Amino acid sequence: MSDSINPAEVDAVVLVGGQGTRLRPLTLSAPKPMLPTAGLPFLTHLLSRIAAAGIQHVVLGTSYKAEVFEAEFGDGSKLGLQIDYVFEDEPRGTGGGIANVASKLRYDTALVFNGDVLSGADLGALLNSHHDRDADVTLHLVRVGDPRAFGCVPTDSNGVVTAFLEKTQDPPTDQINAGCYVFKREVIDRIPKDRAVSVEREVFPALLADGLKVCGYVDATYWRDMGTPDDFVRGSADLVRGIAPSPALKGHRGEELVHDGAAIGPGALLIGGTVVGRGAEIGPGARLDGAVIFDGAHIEAGAVVERSIIGFGARIGPRALIRDGVIGDGADIGARCELLRGARVWPGVRIPDGGIRYSTDV
Ligand code: GDD
Ligand code: MG
Repeated sequence: MSDSINPAEVDAVVLVGGQGTRLRPLTLSAPKPMLPTAGLPFLTHLLSRIAAAGIQHVVLGTSYKAEVFEAEFGDGSKLGLQIDYVFEDEPRGTGGGIANVASKLRYDTALVFNGDVLSGADLGALLNSHHDRDADVTLHLVRVGDPRAFGCVPTDSNGVVTAFLEKTQDPPTDQINAGCYVFKREVIDRIPKDRAVSVEREVFPALLADGLKVCGYVDATYWRDMGTPDDFVRGSADLVRGIAPSPALKGHRGEELVHDGAAIGPGALLIGGTVVGRGAEIGPGARLDGAVIFDGAHIEAGAVVERSIIGFGARIGPRALIRDGVIGDGADIGARCELLRGARVWPGVRIPDGGIRYSTDV
């Protein structure tokens, strides 16, 4: 065995076939990995990170809104990658998605990613840890405040994985599956091909039961699953402010990121990692704090948008307040409306002026 692994001889696999239900209504028009994040499709950040690690060949496992990926990334050459696509007409789950790409793999080692994770982990170090320990599978692990929403992954004192407990209410550790795995190619061939399989609920527990060597690689760099509105908003703001790393973002990182063709009115305040999309208009005196404004949206005079996502071409009327909400594409929120924590407005819905208020003063 050589001292280190050559990333040019590793396949990357990215699972992008999920429906992104927790990010509805935004994911009704775009798959989650394609939602604009600091001005780029989210997946661009991940693919750039893969390319920066020296990996050249990537297979995208698609299902929901599959055609959008190839239209955006083509053969991958713009990112210095060679990208293949494998489509599941029936979603095969995370394990089925991995099994399904097997015919496209070129090498003995595959680095598999969930397509919605923003992370700074050193992929070369993860690959080398796998190689040095001669593991069958190595899982990237991180510690989080609330492990219940994730795969809980305890390890022994040697860093060997002892269990895989997906979304348990009673997690024995705060160490979780970060959604990035190194597989020996032959292990992928053990996954059933003819049906839906969850890598978390079925494949990992089976590998442990069969005595395969599954190791953990723990690291403490930036990590966030972008799958909920709260996390999407925070991850986007962290990219804008340079707290989250991305090789795809060069140059200015600051309190706000305003794209070409956007118009910002006098006295508008943009803070907290706000991003304003192409052709969006921000009215005089509007206040945007940690806001994600997609292309072509209009925020009228004096409106306040905090930690919220405003979909393509949506309009927020004068002096409206949107806090911790998601406004669908083309929705129209009337003047002085108040939409607070957890509000989600479906695409094209129109709320008249003053049509919805919250009792914030009780
Ligand atoms: N190809 C394909 N087919 N991809 C799929 C399918 C499918 O049927 N189902 C889901 N995916 C993709 C999603 O698009 C996403 O990129 C990834 O698989 C993970 O799915 P999520 O829906 O985001 O899973 P999660 O966030 O609830 O949990 C997963 O990620 C956590 C870390 O972020 C699990 O892997 C947890 O164990 C983990 O802790
Ligand atoms: Mg996720």
